Amino acid sequence: MTLEVLEQTIFDMVQTGKGILAADESQPTMAKRFKPIGVEATEENRRAYRSLLLTTPGLSEFISGVILFEETLLQASDDGTALPEILVGQGIVPGVKVDKGKGPLPGATGDLVTYGLDGLAERLQGYKQQGARFAKWREVYPISQSNPTPLGIEANAEMLARYAAVCQTESLVPIVEPEVLMDGEHDIDRCAEVTEAVLHAVFHALHRHNVILEAMVLKPNMVLPGKECSSHASPEQIAEATVRVLRRSVPAAVPSINFLSGGQEPEESTINLNAMNACFPNEPWELSLSYGRALQQPALQAWQGRAKNGEVTQQALLKRARLNGAARRGEYSPEMEQES
Ligand code: 13P
Repeated sequence: MTLEVLEQTIFDMVQTGKGILAADESQPTMAKRFKPIGVEATEENRRAYRSLLLTTPGLSEFISGVILFEETLLQASDDGTALPEILVGQGIVPGVKVDKGKGPLPGATGDLVTYGLDGLAERLQGYKQQGARFAKWREVYPISQSNPTPLGIEANAEMLARYAAVCQTESLVPIVEPEVLMDGEHDIDRCAEVTEAVLHAVFHALHRHNVILEAMVLKPNMVLPGKECSSHASPEQIAEATVRVLRRSVPAAVPSINFLSGGQEPEESTINLNAMNACFPNEPWELSLSYGRALQQPALQAWQGRAKNGEVTQQALLKRARLNGAARRGEYSPEMEQES
């Protein structure tokens, strides 16, 4: 029974030409996103903004799932409809971020670890009643000369696998998100080396914990040069490096790989996803997206905290969703940015 539920959720979440919108920012992250547009991160402002995003007409043509923050599961749109219900009405699967943020990993200077395993099963039961059908958990790996350490890689893999196993027991599809950060001067080869080690450890741990690979989604970083790296990489080089690492470490049983944007500009993340699908159309997994900032940034800019900007906000989101839909098929071109 549980397996059938998981399979149905995967079927609904993983669809050709569609991706997942990450709208699961925690309160402090939301405050960070609102600050540049001068909007106070009150509960009402978060609700108003997210309600606009989720009620965007036509969103389901390009988006098959939305990751929500737990607060949003209990919020309603202006007409009083519960926000998860609005998604379901459009044929979009609601999911929820279930980790409790990160802190230093004792014994591994410079590495981080995520909190939230205690009581997770009970929390998942509650989220399920509120409409969530999948979950997300993120582990973060900063790159330095000595990080991530072997202990950091192992401890984080163990967390992701334990989380994923609990999710599947509770009939929720786990999105497993190991994020190797873009910060730093490292080059693309160093990012590839770290990402490969991280993914190898994650899949080893998922295997140890009997996680059903067919019933999960992987949400990794793309393999990129660090933000402060002096040498540039082309979209084709990024696509090649990323797919090489994925081929070496992600079993073909995994149905979908949904990249995070991780601080890439919206256009950049679309170009890179497009290169991946254009250069490598026959991989065993879908090469898809689960962007937060790269889908929302233009919408947030358009909104400015004003109800009268509702329509342009929704148009901005829909445009990025549509362009990423084209990138999912390897059919995006930069000229499409000029279309309204
Ligand atoms: P970004 O695409 O902004 O990196 O966010 C994705 C996400 O869900 C991070 O956990």
